[in-house]
Amino acid sequence: MVEFSKRDRLKLLGGASALLLSACGGGGSASSPAPSAVVPPPPPPPPPPPPPPPPPPPPPTGLTDGLLRDTFRNDFVMGAALSSFQVQRGDMSASLAQSQFNGITPEFQLKADVIAPNEGTFDFGQADELVDWAIANGMEVRGHALLWHEATPAYFLQGTNAQIRTRLETYISTVVEHFRGRITVWDVVNEVVSTDIFNGNNGVGPDRRTEWFEAVGSGDYLDWAFLAARAADPNAQLFINDYNTENSLKRGWLIDIVRRLQDRNVPIDGVGHQMHIRPDTSISEALQAIDDVDNEFMGLINHVTELDMDVYTNPGSCWESQTNCEADMGPNPPEEVLNTQAQRMRELFNGLKARSSVESVTMWGVMDGDSWLNSSPIERFNHPLLFDRDGEPKAGFLAITDDNYVIG
Ligand code: XIL
Repeated sequence: MVEFSKRDRLKLLGGASALLLSACGGGGSASSPAPSAVVPPPPPPPPPPPPPPPPPPPPPTGLTDGLLRDTFRNDFVMGAALSSFQVQRGDMSASLAQSQFNGITPEFQLKADVIAPNEGTFDFGQADELVDWAIANGMEVRGHALLWHEATPAYFLQGTNAQIRTRLETYISTVVEHFRGRITVWDVVNEVVSTDIFNGNNGVGPDRRTEWFEAVGSGDYLDWAFLAARAADPNAQLFINDYNTENSLKRGWLIDIVRRLQDRNVPIDGVGHQMHIRPDTSISEALQAIDDVDNEFMGLINHVTELDMDVYTNPGSCWESQTNCEADMGPNPPEEVLNTQAQRMRELFNGLKARSSVESVTMWGVMDGDSWLNSSPIERFNHPLLFDRDGEPKAGFLAITDDNYVIG
């Protein structure tokens, strides 16, 4: 039985009456205590807030949390390609993405052969899981890619042009509406620019003769795709995305296609430069690709969408027929290879920072062991990214996050 002293009872009564009055609108004089009423002492000050929790321990690599994305926070989103199974397994790549990047591109989960392998059915499970994880971690998601000939199930290309168009519009509307408000940037079409530069002739550019082009008989399917995407989410930024834009001939065809779309009032907001760079790629030509888009199209956005720096030059035959490929460097590449890579990373990122139209830069993977280049064009150890196979930052990472870092 709790005994209350008189003082306590007065305190309780004073508090209760004040509470009652305030609940009923307070009333005139009644809202202020009568002179004879004992005014309870003010309640004790609230206890001081608990001290902030200690900062999380540094990630395994000892890296300052957020160092990479904060280095470029005033320049562009710093993204990485990631897959849902890397998040599900709790791979180090996922924790490094979480701690160092502020954007991701699903490497597989948003491609048509994953979402709609069979006509009429859509499976967003993997993509939703990865997209929601990214958003929960404050990351921007680049949707890749609504149309890519290498991830197009055969049924997409069956029937008349009218049937192909309706099917494509239905697919894009369904996918873009599903992610509306969560995915704000889409690679609408991917790798649709002529690659004739590699066929020895100056080709019949500008359109790449993919299965899409052959089925439709022209590049009109590009218009259909962009128009459907804009109708499905007027707020999303819509990109054309391609590789080897550092090659002036291919870049010229890209610009021809963008100009054709704009002349037809087809909505397009930006150009994605994949930038799968090789040791013989000119960094200044890669930056010239940004400048040419800026010079040709006021207001278009530039994204670097799939950056990696191959340590092999891969002569054409290596890609075409897996012949004449350079020997495997093994798991520990020579120091000078990594130092040269670091020098070129610094040159590239300094150039990207200097170009205000660049709003996003995405590495095509987090750790070297994640890279698609370990199996394309052949099975071979590659070292194209910013973190090594143990999740340690490489010279390239240090070169772009610390101006005082001395390379080599
Ligand atoms: C690649 C992935 O990285 C591979 O893992 C997959 O097997 C094939 O696709 N250009 C693109 C990307 O636009 O979608 C490709 O990604 C790499 C080339």
